[in-house]
Amino acid sequence: MKIAFFSARAYERAYFDRANWEGLHHLWYTEVPLREETAALANGHEAVCIFVNDRVTAMVAKQLAAMGVRLIALRCAGFNQVDLAATEAWGLTVVRVPAYSPHAVAEHTVALILALNRKIHRAYNRVREGNFALDNLMGFDLCGKTIGVVGTGKIGKAFAQIMMGFGCRVLGFDPYPNPELEAKGMQYTTMDTLLEQSDIVSLHCPLTEATYHLINADKIRLMRRGAMLINTGRGALIDTQAVIQALKDGHLGYLGLDVYEQEEGLFFRDLSYEIIQDDLITRLMTFPNVLITSHQAFFTHEAMTEIAHTTLHNITAFERGLPLENAVRKTG
Ligand code: NAI
Repeated sequence: MKIAFFSARAYERAYFDRANWEGLHHLWYTEVPLREETAALANGHEAVCIFVNDRVTAMVAKQLAAMGVRLIALRCAGFNQVDLAATEAWGLTVVRVPAYSPHAVAEHTVALILALNRKIHRAYNRVREGNFALDNLMGFDLCGKTIGVVGTGKIGKAFAQIMMGFGCRVLGFDPYPNPELEAKGMQYTTMDTLLEQSDIVSLHCPLTEATYHLINADKIRLMRRGAMLINTGRGALIDTQAVIQALKDGHLGYLGLDVYEQEEGLFFRDLSYEIIQDDLITRLMTFPNVLITSHQAFFTHEAMTEIAHTTLHNITAFERGLPLENAVRKTG
């Protein structure tokens, strides 16, 4: 099948080329993101392969269908970037990679927590400048602290288990509690109780209409003063303005982000020689107790190998008319 890869970086291509070693598909790559203005690049292809910051709006779906595209293959788990009503209306099939390495994201979440707590990002710079003083670097023991896990699916579960290993008390909130985690000691509770009791709150639920700005000013007020908030889910789970205010007044003690509400146009690009126009992220970057990574939680060798393999497997199954175990459909 002829596949147009949008937002394709050099480090991804190697994995997809390797996964396509039999030459079953013709892979064409562009670094350009999929938008209404760029959809024409898909002309002549039967499938498009997209990532987290590509956009399939109703207009893009219409354009793709008109060009003869039949399949949208997401090389990621989340699918909030696709207007599923529109893709269904235009007869486009959507597939994704529901699980590649929950451990990759869970372990990165822990990396953010440890770095923020023990101020590794500050210590690293200090030592490089010959400053070996410990002032202001004090952290806290994780053992015995309460961790709130919002969304206990594949990633939330892997994360919860790691934190149990640290000796933490782990609270969970999920409309579908996991009995296996309960048996291991996770206590499910309401969202508000989780926020009230947790020293660290970590978000692992999908971005949907129901979870948009799940963490807003009212919810932050429920959190313990000085608590840590970690978001490796999707940027818009958090109301960024509210979080900045809470950091300014000291209510929020730490913030770790791997995703950001307005990350499109910023993340995955080298902007080190440009003037960043986004005043919210530049404000966030000034706080000593904020650590931001640019959507790299998934980025391990194991995860990339699995993403490439499953994406091409999905495409081959579609081409051969086989059942699509990873199809994404609009529910309700
Ligand atoms: P999953 O589908 O296995 O788990 C999601 C869980 O969230 C489910 O148990 C679901 O019941 C729960 N949930 C749904 N609505 C909720 C709500 N309102 N409150 C609390 N829980 C709710 O998904 P998985 O694989 O664990 O991924 C979770 C999210 O992580 C993805 O949707 C994606 O947005 C994000 N992600 C981020 C990556 C990164 O590189 N930063 C990489 C992969 C995923």
